Amino acid sequence: MEKIFRSNSVIQSLENRVSVRKYTEEEVGEELLTKIITSAKRAPTSSNLQAYSLIVVRDQARKDKLAELAGNQQHIRDCPVFMLVCADSSRVAYACETQGTVFHPNLESFLIASVDASLFGMALSLAAESVGLGSVMIGGIRNHPEQVAKLVNLPNGSFALFGLCVGWPEEHPEQKPRMETELITHHETYDKDSVTRLKRYDSELAEFYKKTGRNTPDEAWTGIIGKRFSQPRRPNLKPELENLGFSFV
Ligand SMILES: Cc1cc2nc3c(=O)[nH]c(=O)nc-3n(C[C@H](O)[C@H](O)[C@H](O)COP(=O)(O)O)c2cc1C
Repeated sequence: MEKIFRSNSVIQSLENRVSVRKYTEEEVGEELLTKIITSAKRAPTSSNLQAYSLIVVRDQARKDKLAELAGNQQHIRDCPVFMLVCADSSRVAYACETQGTVFHPNLESFLIASVDASLFGMALSLAAESVGLGSVMIGGIRNHPEQVAKLVNLPNGSFALFGLCVGWPEEHPEQKPRMETELITHHETYDKDSVTRLKRYDSELAEFYKKTGRNTPDEAWTGIIGKRFSQPRRPNLKPELENLGFSFV
């Protein structure tokens, strides 16, 4: 017999979540932040590697510089706490060193660290939201990985995968529509015709953008994404990450 479904705080948090980019000036206390970080560490991690590190930035001058490097994003300047979620293989390299072996970074170890850091980062943002904080992830921090690494003194084998602005919300944005569950879920095998369902999403998103004052094409998702991704994104990433100790073989 199927279990009776009762909603709970995790499902409600997920159903209500939205990125928040405007914050009050109130500080986020050290004790609360430590609790959030400590709980996020319970995220699953590949082979118990815990291949991530977190840099907590409160210093205004450092936030200003990071905001500039991430494409002048004002919310990085304004949030009381900006965190860098780093993919970090440096402790794996250290473990090899202690054993008299040599760490061989490759595409798999890069993916392991990136997936580990992403799961930790998502847990971090959910934990923050569960106590009433607002947050937004910042991929713009990958614009200049080497400069960011230098600014916060990252060891070789580590880079800032994304940032996370955290603060007490001063806005409650309307939720952006997501693709239909039937479009993103496939039972047993992939239904390649499902992509035709994007038409409906294009109109829903266009409607949302119009309502929230953003000018977009009628085919809002395919129109924007189809243009944005017709050029290679961040071509500097591979050589810069190689300089930071990653390898993609
Ligand atoms: C890895 C990642 C990187 C992101 N980078 C940025 C960013 O640089 N700047 C920004 O304002 N929002 C950023 N976002 C937030 C997305 O724009 C946002 O999650 C998406 O538009 C959906 O909106 P919602 O989170 O309000 O549902 C990022 C989100 C993720 C997951």
